[in-house]
Order: sequence, then structure tokens, then C-alpha cells
Amino acid sequence: MKPEPQKKVLLSGAKPSGELHIGNYIGAIKQWIQLQDTHETYVPIVDLHALTEPQDPVKLREQILTTAADYVALGLDPEKAAIFLQSAVPEHTQLMWILNTLTSMGDLERMVVYKEKIAEGKQALAGLFTYPVLMAADILLYKPSVVPVGEDQRQHVELTRAITRKFNKRFGQTFPIPKELHPPAGKKILSLQDPTKKMSKPAISNLMTIYAAFSGKKFKEIEKEFSDASYKDFKETLAGLVVEKLKPVQEKRKELLENKMKLTDILEEGAAKARAKASETLKEVYEKVGLTI
Ligand code: AMP
Ligand code: TRP
Repeated sequence: MKPEPQKKVLLSGAKPSGELHIGNYIGAIKQWIQLQDTHETYVPIVDLHALTEPQDPVKLREQILTTAADYVALGLDPEKAAIFLQSAVPEHTQLMWILNTLTSMGDLERMVVYKEKIAEGKQALAGLFTYPVLMAADILLYKPSVVPVGEDQRQHVELTRAITRKFNKRFGQTFPIPKELHPPAGKKILSLQDPTKKMSKPAISNLMTIYAAFSGKKFKEIEKEFSDASYKDFKETLAGLVVEKLKPVQEKRKELLENKMKLTDILEEGAAKARAKASETLKEVYEKVGLTI
């Protein structure tokens, strides 16, 4: 018998913000679910990233569990995907330190997400500034070939590539160059609450993207289906579709949150699977940089 070909690796994560939104689903999580059959899948809940902004400990704990329940309710299968807390795998912060020593301040200063947060009035904390380096560590520990994310994370994956090249150049080929993967449509879902965008072209194409993602239909089919309909009719049909599709997800999520033991088991098993891989990579890194004697 031929040995099974090695599966490609997928790594991506979401912050435990408590309420995942349609943008998270279409921009990222839907791709994780679709690829979990064909890829060795690692999907941490990046709780350490959440700390880059002040959090209430009681609420944070709840949000972490809710996000885990959402992952599973949306369709991530714990048998196929390692679902775990970033903080449960200490290799993430250990590798981050090494990568910190390879990352220039200038590169971090160019990060748009950081600049936007500061412009919004967020505190200029060192953790917020260096969060892309922790993200680079999240990625590199698993040597993934795909990193499915929304458009807002593209620059961070690009920085990860720059750090990867530096590491490989200095210490010898260690990491494959990671690549972001965006959905065919919907890498940037716009807010549905901005009234100035009503009826405008991006607003309609935004709604079409959401309709396409939830119905599985192509843009052309949707255009045909609604060629005689008013904007109001389209919006109402879309709202109905989203409610209908999310109903079983909400039920599953509720059921999971009522059985926290099951959720903690899933997270522990996921962390064990992740640690097996992450510790191997960290060991290799420590050897290459000269930390093992
Ligand atoms: P976050 O909840 O910010 O950790 O984001 C989790 C994933 O969802 C990341 O890959 C983001 O790029 C993606 N994402 C967040 N908001 C949107 C959006 N509005 N449109 C598309 N993707 C998004
Ligand atoms: N920084 C990402 C965000 O804010 C979340 C994230 C952390 C991530 N580590 C990652 C995404 C690794 C992909 C891969 O959305």
C-alpha cells in the first residue's frame, strides 16, 4: 500500500470577541470549514490577542467559550480541526520572542490596523503594537501552506512572510513562506448599519455577496432571480435566508454552551494536537538559533 500523501496545513484564528459576525464567517471561517477535510487544520481562538485591548476577565472567559461554541456550531469538526486556545500552547509566546528579535520597529509602524486602532482612540500599548509578531508566531509554528483570512489581515500575513524570509536567510531554510487565502467574494464585508451606504453600488454588491455565501448561488443567478424585484424585496429575502440558515447554528451553539464540559474537552484535545506540532517546530527553532546546548 502506498503511504498516504501528507496533508497540507491550514492555520487561522479569530479573536474571542463574543459575537462572531457575518464578516468573520464569510471572510474566514467558511473557508476553514470547507478546507478541514483536505487540510490538517489548526484554528486557535486567539485569546492572547484579545488582551491587546483592556478586557474584563469575567466577560473574556465567557467570550472565549462562546467563540469555541460558535466554531463548532458553524461546522468546524473537532475530529478534523484542532480547536484550541492560543494561551494553552505556550510555544506561541515563546516563538514570538524569537521573532521579535527579527522584526524591525519600522515594519510594525507601517501596520494599518495598528494605526487605525490608535486613530480610534485605543491606547498605544506595546502589546497592540507587536500583535502582528504574535500572529506571525501563530502561523509559523504550524508551517501552513494556507492562511484563510479577511482583507484586513493581508498586511499582517505579508509581514509574516518578511519575517519568515529573514529567519530562513539567517538560520537556514526552516519555514515555508505562508500565503493568505481570501474567499472568492467577501474578503471585506461592509457594515450593514451605515445608512449613508444605502442603495449605493458597494451596498448592493455587499448584500449580493452575503446572499451568495448563504445560498450557494452565483452572482449571475442572483441577478436573474431578483431582476424585477425592488431593493426592499431583495433585502427582505436576504434577511429571511440568513435567519433560516443561522437558526440551527444558534440551536447548536446553545446546546454546546449548556454542556461546558464537552467544550472544554474539545479545547483540551485541540491543544494537545496543536502542542505536538508546535513543540516540534519550537525545538527546531531553538536548535537553529543556538539556544540548545
Ligand atoms: P477577528 O474576529 O477580528 O479576529 O477576525 C477573524 C477573521 O475574520 C479574520 O480573518 C478577519 O480578517 C476576518 N474578518 C473580520 N471582519 C471581516 C469583514 N468585515 N469582512 C471579511 N472578513 C472579516
Ligand atoms: N490578528 C487576527 C485578527 O485580528 C487574528 C489572528 C491571530 C490570526 N493570529 C492569527 C489570523 C493567525 C490568522 C492567522 O483577526
